[in-house]
Amino acid sequence: MKSLKQMLDQRKTYYDHEPAYRKLAEKGEQGWRSKSGQTANFRLYWNLAFAPGFLPKPEARVLDFGCGGGELAIMLARAGYEVIGTDYSATAIKLAIQNAQRAKLKQVKFYCQDALKPQLRSSFFEVIFSLNVLHCLIGQDRMTYLNNCRKLLKKCGLLVITSMVDLPKDKKIIKEFGINPRTGLDKYRSRCYASEKQILAEFRRAGFKVIFFARGEARDSYPGDEDYFWILQKRL
Ligand SMILES: C[S@@+](CC[C@H](N)C(=O)[O-])C[C@H]1O[C@@H](n2cnc3c(N)ncnc32)[C@H](O)[C@@H]1O
Repeated sequence: MKSLKQMLDQRKTYYDHEPAYRKLAEKGEQGWRSKSGQTANFRLYWNLAFAPGFLPKPEARVLDFGCGGGELAIMLARAGYEVIGTDYSATAIKLAIQNAQRAKLKQVKFYCQDALKPQLRSSFFEVIFSLNVLHCLIGQDRMTYLNNCRKLLKKCGLLVITSMVDLPKDKKIIKEFGINPRTGLDKYRSRCYASEKQILAEFRRAGFKVIFFARGEARDSYPGDEDYFWILQKRL
């Protein structure tokens, strides 16, 4: 039997997003957030991000790291920010480019890149938004991704981040997805249901401090669960 460490370290192809985006594109959908039946509740995150008054004024450089179909990146560009969106799914990026063209926006650019090996300038962004990407990463990849966020941010830059937290409350879902309560991993190795304590320790290890926290969006697909929302600041 594999040890817990082996299970967490073993990098499998757990990237299931590209086929999911292909299916969305075939159905004529514009992205993850706009897909039928999915809560398109970016407004809530938008308000949570802007209400505390931490975010810089428009024209600041913003990265949407794991941008999917670019819905948030496009909202940020509309608000006047200079935005780059990246995602490792080529189909998501194709959708994002089409969505930006439809919105006639030029100050947003999209690139297909792995957040674990970003090809972007270090210390370049004042803010990184990365919504619901952390729970898609497992094992050491989580710290690699958080360290990359830190590297890409300017001094005292902000990381606006959301994640699923804890095992789903509904036992049926735990069974259906074959989630191992010991590792927090599902049988597809496509999600990590980490505890709040683990996530906060990861933020600290990556050199971030929490400056704002809220409970975010309730999930349609996981009754009783909510995503958590944090604004983190890069420590000196
Ligand atoms: C749950 S979706 C969220 C998409 C978007 N941020 C949103 O909130 O609508 C997770 C996204 O993370 C992207 N992703 C996961 N792992 C990634 C990686 N290693 N590099 C880049 N993008 C990644 C997926 O392709 C997918 O678009």
